[in-house]
Amino acid sequence: MCGIIGYTGTKPVCPILINGLRALEYRGYDSAGVALSGRALTTVKRAGRISVLEEALAAGAAGEEYQGATCGIAHTRWATHGAPTDANAHPHATDRLALVHNGIIENDRVLRSELEAAGYVFNSETDTEAAAKLIDSIYAQNPDPIAALRAATERLEGAYALAVVFADRPKQIYAIRRDNPLIAAATAEGAFLASDIPALLPHTCDYYRPDEDEVVVLDTEGAAPSVRFFGRDGEINHPVCTVDWNVEQAERGGYDHFMRKELGEGPDGVRRTLTPLVHDGLPLFNLPLLDRLCDMRSLRIVACGTAMHAGLMGRYYLERLARMPVTVEIASEFRYRSPILSADEPILLLSQSGETADTLAALRLARANGIPTAAIVNVIGSSVAREADAVLATHAGPEIAVASTKAYTTQAAMMALLAVATAWHRGYLTEDQAREMTAALTDRLPVALEQTIALEDQMIEQAERLAPAQHAFYIGRGPDYDGSVEGALKLKEISYIHSEAYAAGELKHGTISLITEGTPVVALSTDTTTAAKMASNMREVRARGGYVLVICTEATKGEVASCADACIVLPESDPILAPICGVLTEHMIAYHTARVLGCDIDKPRNLAKSVTVE
Ligand code: M6R
Repeated sequence: MCGIIGYTGTKPVCPILINGLRALEYRGYDSAGVALSGRALTTVKRAGRISVLEEALAAGAAGEEYQGATCGIAHTRWATHGAPTDANAHPHATDRLALVHNGIIENDRVLRSELEAAGYVFNSETDTEAAAKLIDSIYAQNPDPIAALRAATERLEGAYALAVVFADRPKQIYAIRRDNPLIAAATAEGAFLASDIPALLPHTCDYYRPDEDEVVVLDTEGAAPSVRFFGRDGEINHPVCTVDWNVEQAERGGYDHFMRKELGEGPDGVRRTLTPLVHDGLPLFNLPLLDRLCDMRSLRIVACGTAMHAGLMGRYYLERLARMPVTVEIASEFRYRSPILSADEPILLLSQSGETADTLAALRLARANGIPTAAIVNVIGSSVAREADAVLATHAGPEIAVASTKAYTTQAAMMALLAVATAWHRGYLTEDQAREMTAALTDRLPVALEQTIALEDQMIEQAERLAPAQHAFYIGRGPDYDGSVEGALKLKEISYIHSEAYAAGELKHGTISLITEGTPVVALSTDTTTAAKMASNMREVRARGGYVLVICTEATKGEVASCADACIVLPESDPILAPICGVLTEHMIAYHTARVLGCDIDKPRNLAKSVTVE
């Protein structure tokens, strides 16, 4: 949930740290800080956005080290223990060291008591300070950083990525991780570590991913900057990972918000995701996953938030096309309700980041019980990608906005192609039908998504209508209910308008009592089989004074348009493509509503992009 960056090299460290923090700000943004390692260990930290820290540094808060230091660590925080204050911001420092942390130390109270009994005085409410003081106490006895980190992690319970600079080792950074992400890299100009790839992109596309409990050592004292990894049995060589993202992809590129830029990147993300999976016009997944899926009794999809909603759309495709029973579960619930697992029901995890703690925990639970697992992830080399039995990559490119949009679009498209392949192998589609649907997904879907975006003026008009509302409802049936759930999440997440999705047929069982004069209701109606029923449900809403916007297709318009106050007609009527275009429309309306309201769209309050705590 927090972002950490470290650099040791030949260049002034402050600009590198601040730019790195900016690239990681999506992970948390309530306070930030740096520790500069030079003639003296200098720590500066501030509550508020990174700009507040930057101003403090420019105003001289770090003294001479601001210009002179070439080694340091930095942190941007999403508060778990204690409010966003200067004192609770990271780094947490002692005379010997400064430390930044992403994660949660679960036994911090016990450690704090022990350390207080040993004479330490705590200055913050954070769990992290206990880790800093624990390492300090060990280092005081034996000033060996690798041994100190290792000994400390034997006492630490919970999840963490820690980076430490020691006052007596001004050119080195030490780090260790457990259940939280950390990557490292070395170039001719320095050695880097970070929570995620966007922070490294201005410097390199090549990086290493340390395994859990390895100590990472960044150094510039040798001939060249180096990054080395030490396990319990000695030094470890990791293969280099290379990312095909570029720095422009991780920048706003002239857009007001990352979210708007990323909405526009969905169509190309679908092209990049599906094209490598198609050979001679047919889907070819080339994975044991598909053989297994075809033979399996059923499938369980586990994910969180928007990724879980893409799983709901995946259920629609697999049930409709491949007649495969699918259940979709929220990862945090799945894990703790003692699920009944079966080896002939594989588990498919969906995750943009591949680092979501609940999803990762679900994956580990499945594997520990011998259940076959597969994952659809956007970040190759992430923990979920590395631990699942089989991996399918979406190629949405880096997603920076907290609100997930292009990741959803590519995940839903991937699920549709997977369903076509499964249906063909299970005999529910002929080869010709599979070819036709594959072409629809690879060729027509990206174009339809672009045409959907071109309807932006209509979406802006509806966003202006929606913006003053306190509450909004989203309704749909079948795949359109799945899409409505995602539309409602996106609106409340970024505009703070309370919004709920209901299966349209369920409204009359209670929720319709909430509809009063002018209550906005967004109806998604792409499914011809339920359009007439949707029309009835929309009439029921209007009869109670509700304002109905319907998002429909040429095929459903005849049934539903006359029952709505406003209508947006999608460019595709195909039942496989239209629901994804419908969700994109809802994403765009949510974006513009938040923009009309002047919300901090890319960094909504209280949220973080990558939820690496349970
Ligand atoms: O990285 P993941 O896809 O695993 O993230 C899952 C959710 O945290 C994420 O989709 C979240 O719901 C988004 N902020 C929604 O826009």
